[in-house]
Amino acid sequence: MYHLGEATPSPAGAAGASDAIRMPPAITASRTRQLLQFSQRQIEFVFRARREHGEVFTMNGVIAGEVAVTSHPDHVRSLFTADPDQAPSLTAESPLLPIVGPNSVLTANGPRHLRQRKLLLPPFHGEAIARYAQMIADATEREIGDWPLNRAMALAPRMQAITLDVILSGIFGVEGRPRRGTPEHRLRLTVASLSAASTSPLAKLGELMNVGKAEPVGLMRQAVALLDRSVYPIIHARRGVDDLGERTDIMSLLMRAQTEDGELLSDRELRDELLTLVFAGFETTANSLAWAWERLVRTPVAYDRLRDAVRSGEQAGEHVEATIVESMRSRPVIPIIGRRVRVPWRLGEYVVPAGTGIDMSVLLVHHREDIYPDPFAFRPERWLGRKPGTYEWIPFGGGTRRCLGAALAMAEQRVVLEAMARRLDLEAAEPEPEHAQHRNVTMIPAHGARVVVRGRR
Ligand code: HEM
Repeated sequence: MYHLGEATPSPAGAAGASDAIRMPPAITASRTRQLLQFSQRQIEFVFRARREHGEVFTMNGVIAGEVAVTSHPDHVRSLFTADPDQAPSLTAESPLLPIVGPNSVLTANGPRHLRQRKLLLPPFHGEAIARYAQMIADATEREIGDWPLNRAMALAPRMQAITLDVILSGIFGVEGRPRRGTPEHRLRLTVASLSAASTSPLAKLGELMNVGKAEPVGLMRQAVALLDRSVYPIIHARRGVDDLGERTDIMSLLMRAQTEDGELLSDRELRDELLTLVFAGFETTANSLAWAWERLVRTPVAYDRLRDAVRSGEQAGEHVEATIVESMRSRPVIPIIGRRVRVPWRLGEYVVPAGTGIDMSVLLVHHREDIYPDPFAFRPERWLGRKPGTYEWIPFGGGTRRCLGAALAMAEQRVVLEAMARRLDLEAAEPEPEHAQHRNVTMIPAHGARVVVRGRR
């Protein structure tokens, strides 16, 4: 049995008037070098920084320029529970900004964010999500049923096919795969091709340096036009149906939802929220699943235990859950969560000035030895009979910005992981672990989690 420990307390929060500014030590490499290392070898980069500089340091961040990076749970608590006026979210500077605009639940801050969040929360509650289980199982069966035997394949795109179907069904109410020629089909193609757009390391660097800009440029403008050409017809058609009151997909629920002042969402607001949900939801969940398999096929003890539990039915649910929690600990797809403080902020022995971006490194928090003994080992059993700590296991963030789709993402991962463990025998295509690459705000397996299917039941 592996016990979770506790970190030594470290003071954090809005600093007092008499506290002098004291910046954390800085990584000295050039910005370009830091961005390249961060985007191509993220895990090695942040662990080296922590080794050399300690649990708080300063680096050139992807989204926010120079940022303080912390990995202490007390600092995380101070930021997640802060008054949003004092520590607004850096998602306002998200790479999704040119696509979803500044007013969506992800990109807005302050009262606007709270208003949108209130409207969106009900359809994402655990109970509301439970009714999607069968639809997720159907999407999984459709996908895994004909995978070739004994040939190396990357799992990430396959996982994306499932999570994209789930999002389109859950959000837009599409049953099965959308029919060719429909706006839903066009939307699926556009979203899938945007995500698959292959980028060289240098193009990626350009992409990273461009984040935080509200105006779409060049290719992005074309992508936005393509998305709009599918989303608006879907919205207009749905507004005209007779049974809108009975429909349970998220778009129909949002069309009926009213703000406290009795207002309905406009077409533009609906479009922004729907695209936010699509883009925030499908690649994250797909890559989280891909990482789970990247780890499992390289950890035979954990894989055998999961397979035995699922196939015998003994404690299957607990083992599936523990595997997901451990893989999200060990390979969080959103490895950094940012806030920009509007007042000086204490982070242990340091005090950073108002205006500083502070990144919570999910990866580093999840690998603290004082909390997780032997943190680099993939051990789902650490979670059997235990619940993750609010500020120690943070793949979905926390506080008033906690991931809106967490229940859906967990439901998808449970169903897909369980079905794959029951039906398939997988092996790693190559023995070496896959490096972590950064794409937009996500950390993904560099080769898409390559596996070979050796058997099917
Ligand atoms: C494994 C999958 C997922 C992971 C790891 C993940 C992670 C996160 C994290 C860390 C945040 C907080 C960002 C911050 O505070 O800066 C967030 C926010 C958000 N996520 Fe997720 N997410 C996942 C899946 C989903 C899904 C399936 C949806 C919806 C369909 C979704 C929709 C959102 C939205 C709308 C927000 C913004 C919430 C707000 O600002 O109030 N996510 N997600």
